[in-house]
Amino acid sequence: RVKPCRLIGLEQHHDERGSLSIVESEWTTGFPIRRIYYLHNTRTGTARGAHAHRALEQLFVAAHGSFTVKVDDGHRQRAYRLDDPGTGLYVGPMVWRDITDFSDDSVCLVLASEHYDETDYYRDYAAFLEDVRRQP
Ligand code: TYD
Repeated sequence: RVKPCRLIGLEQHHDERGSLSIVESEWTTGFPIRRIYYLHNTRTGTARGAHAHRALEQLFVAAHGSFTVKVDDGHRQRAYRLDDPGTGLYVGPMVWRDITDFSDDSVCLVLASEHYDETDYYRDYAAFLEDVRRQP
């Protein structure tokens, strides 16, 4: 069963020194965080993602700047413009994602439920569609 993508408001503390945004493993994400990576130096016009995962769960945060995450569960597509360090986008298993329209100096922070495993990836859209549409 595909878990729907959703925006999650992060706990934040603002004061005269600035803002602090918090992600707690499991409590915020609903999954244990085993890996953190971030996309930066992304050139304007570049496209990343273009894959789905069999099991991986992720939370995307625009730590700086903005970008668009287009998600596709094989039936419906939706685009999220992420531009707020206080909001995360949950993307679960069996969701194809394309990440585009990076602003200059954007930092796309990704919190992931598993260590890197290339065998968890669908990199072929047709193969992804075939499997996701076979699921009940
Ligand atoms: P890629 O999947 O193309 O990144 P994106 O989803 O952002 O478009 O990954 C780029 C390269 O980095 C590829 O050779 C796989 C490698 N990689 C790791 O070794 N570990 C990781 O945790 C990730 C996310 C990627």
